Amino acid sequence: MKKKIVSVLTVAMLSMSMLAGCSSAGNNAKDAVNTTENEAVADVAKETAKQAADAGNGSLIDKKVGVCIYQFSDNFMTLFRNELLSYFVAQGFSADNITIVDAANDQETQTKQIEEFIANGVDVLIINPVNSSSADAITDLAVGANIPLVYINREPDADEEQRWEDNDWNVCYVGCDARQSGTYQGEIIVDLGLDTVDLNGDRKVQYIMIEGDPENIDAQYRTDFSIKALEDAGIKVDCLEDEVGNWDQATAQQIVANALESHPETEVVFCNNDAMALGALKSIQAAGRTVGSDIYLVGVDALSEALEDVIAGTMTGTVFNDHFSQAHSAADAAINYLTGGKNDRYIGCDYIKVTADNAQEILDAVK
Ligand code: BGC
Repeated sequence: MKKKIVSVLTVAMLSMSMLAGCSSAGNNAKDAVNTTENEAVADVAKETAKQAADAGNGSLIDKKVGVCIYQFSDNFMTLFRNELLSYFVAQGFSADNITIVDAANDQETQTKQIEEFIANGVDVLIINPVNSSSADAITDLAVGANIPLVYINREPDADEEQRWEDNDWNVCYVGCDARQSGTYQGEIIVDLGLDTVDLNGDRKVQYIMIEGDPENIDAQYRTDFSIKALEDAGIKVDCLEDEVGNWDQATAQQIVANALESHPETEVVFCNNDAMALGALKSIQAAGRTVGSDIYLVGVDALSEALEDVIAGTMTGTVFNDHFSQAHSAADAAINYLTGGKNDRYIGCDYIKVTADNAQEILDAVK
């Protein structure tokens, strides 16, 4: 799979550069994914694990990893944690030693889970914080117990990251720069041309914005940079509604249903992620509107369902949020710490713009 993704990414990067000119603790991993999936992962990974052991990673089999996910029901984080587990096993870890827990979007629950992991003597922590603003307290817990820590997906603020560096702590962050994803969303609309998108002919783009969790930097950047891309291209915009959908499909569906009723003049619906775009699409269709002819819709993540919609023309575009690369980098960073190495405090990855032109290619790679 990794090979397949790398080659798709290479092709995508190449084509992008060609276009650039225009353009509850204690549950183990078996609770994270179902047993059948776990067994399949273990089988597939057996040979790779043996090779890893032969290559000198044999000691990893006994290492215990504690993984905290902000919410299991999040579609994107589900892809991320499943890939994290299978990659760890492929690197020579035992699936039984990778414990993945669900904070159910509650920081207090997550803090207890972290304390429990520490009490149980995990060797490394991977944390997708419920609230990025709780990172200082989380870091203090891990550092106090001398356990290396890899944050994923929700980036702590600059002061917190500076603290890691100033103190030379074994703490780092793995994620993508959400400014890029917002910019790509905006460019997808810009590339259609104002004449196409401006359905009422007022030389402006009327839009609705559906935001993820506003505390999350991904949501803030995607909201700002998608619109900035339009403005940078000289397109005037008119924000009809900007609402918080909390990354959630059903919430976004409701918001968009109401917004379309109040604002039939809506030309573009920007959603900070695909789950919300899929909800938006239901309301767009229920309102008798047709994506690609009298409204445009963009998301982020490149969930399979969204890619199928892009291929069918029922979504204008999305942006691939590479959970393979992020999961692998997070596990590699953890392995580095476990084997006495260091990590940069920020480990990034690139997003990929997805339209009908490359959606099939991305779908083949993620499936
Ligand atoms: C993803 C969202 C997800 C969120 C969770 C974002 O990077 O695009 O789909 O809900 O992370 O923090």
